[in-house]
This record gives sequence, C-alpha cells and structure tokens, in this order.
Amino acid sequence: MTDPWQRLRAWLAGLVAGGLVAVGAMAAPVGDERAIPERLDQAAIDAGDVSVEKLIRVGRLWFEAKFTRAEGAGRPAATGAIIPTPAEPDVLPLFFRTAGPDSNACRGCHNDPEIGGAGDFVANAFVSEGFSDADFDTVDPQFSNERGTPALHGSGLVELLAREMTRDLRAQRRAAAAKARREGEAVRVELTSKGVSFGALTVHPDGFVDVSALDGVDQDLIIRPFSQKGVFTSLRQFTVNALNAHHGMQAVERFGARYTGTEDFDRDGVADEVGPGDLTALVMFQATLPPPRQVLPRGAGRRAAVAAGENLFEAIGCASCHVPRLPLDSGVFSEPNPFNPAGNLRPGEVDRAVQVDLAELAAASGVETDDAGRLMVPVYSDFKRHVIADGERPHFANELLSQRFVNRDVFLTARLWGVGSTAPYGHRGDVTTLHEAIRHHGGDAAESRRAFEDLAEEGQRKIIEFLLSLRIGLETPR
Ligand code: HEC
Ligand code: HEC
Repeated sequence: MTDPWQRLRAWLAGLVAGGLVAVGAMAAPVGDERAIPERLDQAAIDAGDVSVEKLIRVGRLWFEAKFTRAEGAGRPAATGAIIPTPAEPDVLPLFFRTAGPDSNACRGCHNDPEIGGAGDFVANAFVSEGFSDADFDTVDPQFSNERGTPALHGSGLVELLAREMTRDLRAQRRAAAAKARREGEAVRVELTSKGVSFGALTVHPDGFVDVSALDGVDQDLIIRPFSQKGVFTSLRQFTVNALNAHHGMQAVERFGARYTGTEDFDRDGVADEVGPGDLTALVMFQATLPPPRQVLPRGAGRRAAVAAGENLFEAIGCASCHVPRLPLDSGVFSEPNPFNPAGNLRPGEVDRAVQVDLAELAAASGVETDDAGRLMVPVYSDFKRHVIADGERPHFANELLSQRFVNRDVFLTARLWGVGSTAPYGHRGDVTTLHEAIRHHGGDAAESRRAFEDLAEEGQRKIIEFLLSLRIGLETPR
C-alpha cells in the first residue's frame, strides 16, 4: 500500500479493531452517570502492564467525556490559574464563560473537522493562565485574552520537534560556555536548530550569559510549541491546565497534597480527580492524532494551481517563517517530556517512560523521510515567536494582556499543515478567510505580505488554493 490514504485508513482501522471493541465490554453499574470510563494507574503503566493501544483508547474516552460533578467537575474554591490559586468559595456558578469552567468536554471545543480538531468561533476560550498582569479572582473580561481553538493533529511530532530543538540550542550554549572557560574569553554563539536561527548568546568566562541578542525563544532556550503564544512546553503541561481551567478537573501532580497540602484543593468534595496515569492516557491520545497532510484536489487545473501556489509561497518569503518541512531525527515519542516544569510528571518520577514510535503513523499520513532517514515533518512553521502586527496592520495586536513576558503583538508562527480544514483563522478565530489572514500580517511579516499584495490576483489565488490543500482527517478532496 503506497497510497497514504489507504495506509491511514488501515492504521485507523487497526486502532478501532484493537480498541473500540473492548470499550463496549466495559460495563458501568446501572444508572451510573459518571463520564470517566476507566482510571489508569501510572505504576501499572510504568510496569509495562498497559499497552500503548489501551492508553490511546482510554485517552480518547477522557477527551470525549462530559465530566460530571460526581467525578470532580467544577472548582468552587480554585481559579483557572496555572499555579494552584485559591478563590473565595462558591461565589461563581458552576459554569462561567470567561473565568471558567466553560465547557463539559475537551471535545466540546476540539471537534472540527473531527475529534481533536479545531473549533468554531463559538468554541473560543478566554485564557488568563500564565499572565503576569492578570487578576485570577475576577470574571472581568479585561483580565483574559480570547483565543480560537487550534487542532491537535500531529501534536506528538510537534512536541518531538520542539524537544530536539531545545536540545540543540542547549548543546550550543554548553559548548560556548566550555570554550569561554577554557580560553578565558567571552564567546558569542549563533543559535540555530533545524535551519532556524534563534539569535545569539554571548557567554563570559565566569559563566555570565548575555541573552540580549536572543530571538523568538525564551532565555532558558526551551522551545515551547503549544498555545498560539508559544508559552507551553508539552501536551501534558497544557492538558493539566486545560483540565483545571475548562472543567475544574484537577490533576494530582499539580493540585494534589504534594504542592497544595490538601487532596481536595478546589473543595468540591472529590479527591484524586485526575491521576498521572489518566493524564498519560490523555497525552498519548493527543500525541497520536494523525498528522495533517496534503490532499490534492481532483481537477488537473486545480492541481497545477496548488503546485504553482506552493512555489509562490516560497518565492515571496512566506516560507521564511512557515518553514515547509522540519527534519525530525527520531519519531519515538516518550512520555513524560524531559523539559516539563514542576507540577507536571517528569521523567525522574517514573520508573520507565512510555514510548510510542510515531514514524509509522507519520508514514501513513504521507510524511516523507530524507536520505538520512529523518522524518521531514510538513509543519509549515519555524517554532519561533515573531512580531506579527504594526501600525499599518494592527489586527493581530488585539489583545490587552501580555502573557508570560511575551509582548502583545508577538505570536508563534502558526503551523499551517492543516489550515485548509481549520477556518476561522487568527489567534482569536475572528478572521473568516485565508486571504484576510494573510492581509493582516504586519511586523516581521510586513515584507512578505507586501509581496503577496503585489502579486496579480491569479497568483494570490494559487497560494490560497495551495493552503486549502493542507488538510486534517479523511475529508473528501475538493
Ligand atoms: C472552551 C474550549 C476548549 C476546551 C473545552 C478545551 N480546549 Fe484546548 N484549546 C482551546 C483554545 C482556545 C486553545 C488555544 C489556546 C491559546 O492559544 O492560548 C487550546 C489549545 C489546546 C492545546 C495546545 C494546542 C496548540 O497547538 O497550541 C492543547 C494541547 C489542548 N488545547 C488540549 C485540550 C484538552 C486536553 C482539553 C480537555 C481537557 C481541552 N484542550 C479543552 C480551547 C479549548
Ligand atoms: C515573520 C513570520 C511570518 C511570515 C513571513 C509569514 N507569516 Fe503567516 N503567520 C505568522 C504568525 C506569527 C501567525 C499567527 C498570527 C496570529 O494569529 O496571531 C501567522 C498566521 C498565518 C495564517 C493563519 C493561520 C491560522 O491557522 O489561523 C496564515 C494563513 C498565514 N500565516 C499565511 C502566511 C502567508 C501566505 C505568508 C506569506 C505571504 C505568511 N503567512 C508569512 C508568521 C509569519
């Protein structure tokens, strides 16, 4: 089977055969309304007693579950903040659109064109976690930024790319520090990974590091590929936040007794709402969502337009940020992420990391390998943050709060690999067409936007046709 379509279908069919049959067999007690199908013990996962297929299957059920109060939905005495932050108990109703909890299930928002996907404007979230200037004890909308829901397809490969880039940048810093010590002179090092430049560092012999020339990455050199602001390291870290913020489901690894001194931090009468094993399952489900891929339209004329559009996309500089393919040395996804901050399970806390090789899944979605056997992940991003608005094109500078020290007009280069399936566009999901999204590019992207506007209408349309060919799921090509 060489057709990626057939291979993808076969992969999914295998998953269903290996998993969904067993789901029917798990009987809940009569009249039990709890949504969580099955709890998984991290110790059993560490011991190798839970197959990867089972983790993915149970993770999917968690992603679909409409959480109930019986299993801990709601957080009457806690806010949605990343760091466990108490709130005055029972002031807010159980659901609240801005301060949250704002929804019943992950799938409530991530559902377009299929589970794990993006969301319509109606699924926007009001995020306030991670802000240095937010008031977490309020429902005033000025204390949150409104964001559209991105698709999670291919996010295992995304996390792996980010880990490898972090390792590259840190190795370059280490080498510079060793050289500075050895030679007794300051050493300046240009930081690059996978062909993307992240500015430069100067390391002094006494270990002092001048970070003023860094570009698009945090001072700790961790590439954070999640959230449109580029401020979250791993699927796990994001998921712990999402469970608390959207649903009031609190993970033991952050809200449990170890960090908060209590087993019921949100004081909803339920302890042990989400264990490490449950989170591992949720992560494995998201990490193995099939990567987006190119689906060529049927007509020869449109196919030719897609090819021409892709060339134009590169010729006018879009590809300088939306880098078409990033090489991935190893497709083996291991959980947990080695760069997780405290409050998220870390590799030292498990006996053995769970592993799944994403290479087969990638191949099933048509991801090619280079001569060195590396996966060439067609992600259309440089995993870097850029100034994306200016006085002439202010639209993308529409937020009031800066997040985790990142300025208001700076965002992560959107990954375009599924963009043909994920309208509406922009970080607020308030842009109805790709054409408009491109016209809103300012700041670092002003030059390539101008080049786009200078193209004849026919050329602009070819670029759009190319972008529309980047798809998620098994939709029929247009
Ligand atoms: C109310 C809608 C909503 C619900 C419910 C929701 N999400 Fe999201 N999700 C979003 C939005 C909006 C973003 C973008 C956040 C940002 O850019 O700051 C997002 C981003 C993410 C990301 C980062 C993706 C990326 O590429 O940057 C992950 C992972 C994620 N969500 C997982 C989950 C999980 C797991 C759940 C359930 C526990 C969940 N989400 C529930 C709306 C939602
Ligand atoms: C300087 C880097 C940079 C350049 C150059 C650039 N972009 Fe972008 N692009 C971004 C960033 C950052 C975003 C996220 C904007 C936001 O929502 O805040 C983005 C978003 C997009 C989106 C919306 C994606 C979505 O899912 O909402 C499209 C489409 C897009 N770019 C296409 C293009 C095209 C076509 C070009 C060339 C004309 C281009 N970009 C040039 C950085 C860049």
